[in-house]
Amino acid sequence: MNTLFAANWKMHKTAAEARQTAAELVGLVSGKLKAGREVMILPSFTALAPVAEALRGAANFLLGAQNFYPQKQGAFTGEVSPGMLLEAGASFALAGHSERRHVLGETDALVGTKTAFGLESGLGVILCVGEKIDERRAGELKSVLERQIRAGVRDVPRDIAPERLVLAYEPVWAIGTGEVAGPREILEAHAFVRSMLAEIFGASASAMRILYGGSVKPDNASEIIALDNVDGVLVGGASLKADEFSRIVLA
Ligand code: 13P
Repeated sequence: MNTLFAANWKMHKTAAEARQTAAELVGLVSGKLKAGREVMILPSFTALAPVAEALRGAANFLLGAQNFYPQKQGAFTGEVSPGMLLEAGASFALAGHSERRHVLGETDALVGTKTAFGLESGLGVILCVGEKIDERRAGELKSVLERQIRAGVRDVPRDIAPERLVLAYEPVWAIGTGEVAGPREILEAHAFVRSMLAEIFGASASAMRILYGGSVKPDNASEIIALDNVDGVLVGGASLKADEFSRIVLA
């Protein structure tokens, strides 16, 4: 499986800025990417098509979207369907990012519906899970992860192609805070996610990627990627500048 370096640009960058950053990144990384690595950019909806254009022909670059609604079409004002994302050039999308859960109020049940619908529609899905600091302090790490994973994959066919379902462990307390989880914390959470996937999906779980996200920077990326059960990173703040993200990707 390829190690995945995913840039979640959140609600940053105009379409013009996004196109320029993507083009710069391709320039910095092309020809230097280690074998077995791929890079995904997840810009805002309005920047999907321009970024798709900037990535055209760039080997091992993928386009992803940050969100979608689990319906083909209909009266869902403000929402975007998986089919629209595929048409814009995206091959993956996030589901259950902590900001959607905790700022926008998405429930475990909705995240589960989205994950299954996105996959069924032809997108790959990056299902994000992670505990809040009070949950960690209360000793609830594993029960929170178990609840989010079981609900998240509730309706996913058990024979799903493993490369199409990616898990991302993003402890909420490490997102945008500069406080990166330590190796012991990452190892423990990722081993638990892997064991849950194995219980649910059987042998194919070993080919599902588990990303770490939360204050990944150029100076900690290589140490994180080297850990057991870490198959890539999902990067927010440090992915916004092409130069900084290229140092993570090339680490
Ligand atoms: P930061 O890298 O800014 O902590 O954000 C992580 C994240 O939420 C990626 O999805």
